[in-house]
Amino acid sequence: MQTIALVGCGNLGSAIIKGLLASGQAPQHIRASRRSLWALQPLSELGVQTFSDNLEAIQGADIIILGLKPYVMPKVLAEIAPKLGPQQILVSLASGLSLESLGQELPEEQPLVRAMPNTAADVSESLSCLAQKNCSLQQQKAVGRIFEAVGEAIWIEEELMEAATILGACGVAYVLRFIRAMVQGGIQLGFDAQTAKKIVTQTTKGAAELLLQGGKHPEEEIDKVTTPRGCTIVGLNEMEHSGFSSALIKGILASFEAIEKK
Ligand SMILES: NC(=O)c1ccc[n+]([C@@H]2O[C@H](COP(=O)([O-])OP(=O)(O)OC[C@H]3O[C@@H](n4cnc5c(N)ncnc54)[C@H](OP(=O)(O)O)[C@@H]3O)[C@@H](O)[C@H]2O)c1
Repeated sequence: MQTIALVGCGNLGSAIIKGLLASGQAPQHIRASRRSLWALQPLSELGVQTFSDNLEAIQGADIIILGLKPYVMPKVLAEIAPKLGPQQILVSLASGLSLESLGQELPEEQPLVRAMPNTAADVSESLSCLAQKNCSLQQQKAVGRIFEAVGEAIWIEEELMEAATILGACGVAYVLRFIRAMVQGGIQLGFDAQTAKKIVTQTTKGAAELLLQGGKHPEEEIDKVTTPRGCTIVGLNEMEHSGFSSALIKGILASFEAIEKK
């Protein structure tokens, strides 16, 4: 069994560890570090080895996941770089940091992965986009398995990593804002907030499942709901007159323009 170290084990790191444990990874093969050691106590109680020293945490790890904020990354990379073995795979979760900039302090051949999961990792429903440098197929499989423990994982070209951040990670916020608006509409129609949320969240999940399981284009499923002259098409067209699709696309492009690239 491979040993996995989570350096900078905060929200995402803890979610990944929970997923790994649930998928059968032995806790003694998981190492986690952050400065506030006390915050790792719940993981320690599950048998995970916890450290406040990053260099101790990476000892003997096959895969090292860096869950640090982007501005902390250069300092910690400089700290661990001299102690890295040539076969240790480094995986960065930091948004906006390219494989090239991550590799600046590292040996040319160091296996490197950039990963972009989303906060749904907490409920094992993330979509993680992965890009790599210097990794063998076997190493890619090993990294892929980690992210499959918290949802689904796909490999993409690195040049699409910022786009993946917008669509996959920021996307959670866009969908939640959509859900909130639906709930507000439901309340105006007479439902209490709890009931409206229940209806909207399950409807959102069901609509996504129709596409995931049926594999059709969204418009095909929309056609099934829109009776000619019916209330659905009237509402949908009104939304479009108010700029619904356009607002979403413009927002996605605005986020993309605002993302910091290094
Ligand atoms: N939110 C998203 O949807 C999303 C999606 C994909 C990727 N990301 C990226 O994933 C990364 C982690 O996000 P997160 O939400 O898990 O952040 P987080 O909860 O703040 O976790 C980062 C952790 O790093 C630790 N840390 C800070 N300095 C350290 C040091 N010198 N040595 C060791 N640990 C240190 C902090 O704990 P201490 O203060 O105790 O050290 C903190 O727990 C970020 O780069 C973020 O951009 C986020």
